[in-house]
Amino acid sequence: MSSPSAVRRPPYADSVLITGASGLLGRALVAEFAAAGFSVLAQYRRHAGEDGERVRWLRGDFASARGTAGFLRRHRQALVSCRHVVHNYGPIEERPTAGLTGAQLASAFQAHVLPALDITRFLLARAPLRSVLFIAFEDTGVMRPFLKVLPYAVAKNGLLLVGLSLAAAHPGVRVNVFSPPTLAGAAIRHPRVRPAAPEEVAARIRRIVQGRASGRHYRWAAPRHRDRQGDRHG
Ligand SMILES: NC(=O)c1ccc[n+]([C@@H]2O[C@H](COP(=O)([O-])OP(=O)(O)OC[C@H]3O[C@@H](n4cnc5c(N)ncnc54)[C@H](OP(=O)(O)O)[C@@H]3O)[C@@H](O)[C@H]2O)c1
Repeated sequence: MSSPSAVRRPPYADSVLITGASGLLGRALVAEFAAAGFSVLAQYRRHAGEDGERVRWLRGDFASARGTAGFLRRHRQALVSCRHVVHNYGPIEERPTAGLTGAQLASAFQAHVLPALDITRFLLARAPLRSVLFIAFEDTGVMRPFLKVLPYAVAKNGLLLVGLSLAAAHPGVRVNVFSPPTLAGAAIRHPRVRPAAPEEVAARIRRIVQGRASGRHYRWAAPRHRDRQGDRHG
């Protein structure tokens, strides 16, 4: 892992919006991007951090399309300077597949895909956007049964398709998807996989944002359980 001091700093304060910035990975992302010289717009819902020279906290609730629209409206002035966005917000919830309802599936889709798409569209239309990164999870793109986190998996796979499709539709903007591993300190984690430190994962994400590629799905590691049922979160 390269230390923040070893990274190539942008010549000016490149502005990045990080959603879910007050969470486990979000806080590591805020520290990583601020240390690399970015000007960070950090979205939170309840747990704001402290504003600083390079970090500004923006409150937003993405539970409904109205909430996302309100976030975009209230913070419009700050957001229109954004050159990068990391769609890190993406709640996980366990729901046994055997009793799953359509409403629960739709609700996961609302939580993950709609805010990411609406925020991206807003920035594409108004900001000097250079890159968009969607955060998925380790089994994104893996076709297997899910017994506990099917809504989450469906939504994250939706994000993968949205990311790859936006990359093709907007050749002037780099759009990628990154699938992180289980994080050390996460509430829901794979029982047999060594979790990765959020700081290491954040450094990898910063390198992707500063890279040149578009239309890629980056993984932390190859999925381990392609052929088995009920693994990871099940
Ligand atoms: N944790 C893992 O092991 C793991 C593994 C693979 C992929 N991922 C993915 O990595 C990303 C980060 O995960 P994480 O574990 O760091 O997340 P987390 O700790 O659960 O963070 C949740 C974040 O989302 C915000 N939030 C919650 N409800 C919200 C709402 N209704 N509207 C707007 N913001 C809301 C929280 O804000 P407040 O705290 O201020 O309320 C917080 O900033 C997610 O996309 C996740 O799916 C995580």
